[in-house]
Amino acid sequence: MQGGNLEAVGLRFEVDGEIATITLDRPDKRNAQTFALWSALAGIGETLPEQVRVVVVKGEGPSFSAGIDLSMFGQMTGATDLERRIEEFQQAFLWLRRPEIVSIAAVQGHAIGAGFQLALSCDLRIVADDVKFCMKEPALGLVPDLTGTKPLVELVGLAKAVDICLTARTVGAEEAYRIGLAERVVARDELDQAVQDKAAELLSVDRDAAAATKRLLQGARGRTLEDQCAAERAEQIERLRSLARLAEVRR
Ligand code: CAA
Repeated sequence: MQGGNLEAVGLRFEVDGEIATITLDRPDKRNAQTFALWSALAGIGETLPEQVRVVVVKGEGPSFSAGIDLSMFGQMTGATDLERRIEEFQQAFLWLRRPEIVSIAAVQGHAIGAGFQLALSCDLRIVADDVKFCMKEPALGLVPDLTGTKPLVELVGLAKAVDICLTARTVGAEEAYRIGLAERVVARDELDQAVQDKAAELLSVDRDAAAATKRLLQGARGRTLEDQCAAERAEQIERLRSLARLAEVRR
């Protein structure tokens, strides 16, 4: 999707070298997310330039995102083929976990429902001290279905995830940091710089080793120790062979 079309759905997309920045850009509507925005996000994932290693997801204005645009609800209740449609919506969120990239959510103000889940889709969350996470779906008679339940449980544990989702309460910055939802809390006017600093740190390590390590880390929870050791060996052998090929070329 070209720049003009992205603007029409309330998105900006900029690539600067190895860093891509996606900005939810409908601040007057608190960056509420439409179906068209999800389709555009999935499109960005499909066409992400190969050189990109860090993807920053941020929101313009006072809130990261107030969640699904409430006007979308009417369109969903009467829709047919819901299984396929929800699967399509999930594509907007899934690609942010790819091993070849590290995604960072820069979160200020409200991150409600789909906004919370978008932040959860990213590998890292750096938040402003005014952040307000809220999984509001159960309060609306719905479940969180935009890929957020798995990372939430993995980050904070089942009991805390049950507490957060089934009360639809707000989680502020101090708690978010304490329970592992946020890697770092900074003042609102320091958020952009903190994210840039993290991006620079992430870019300081070898690209292929970073992707291989992320693959290992992502797979760790689902494997036995024995299988994880085997996966470490396989990735390391690939790395060593690749380094040897590189040394050969340089000689
Ligand atoms: N959808 C559509 N418009 C929204 C919106 C949303 N989710 N959230 C805010 N807006 C609009 C408001 O209608 C208002 O528009 P107008 O100026 O045209 O009246 C504008 O954004 C500013 O909103 P507020 O004046 O309410 O701003 P605030 O800063 O005082 O409050 C807020 C911000 C706490 C986020 C509040 O707007 C709010 O509670 N919004 C609704 C949040 C919500 O329920 N989201 C759905 C969660 S469920 C989900 O996302 C996942 C799912 O699939 C079910």
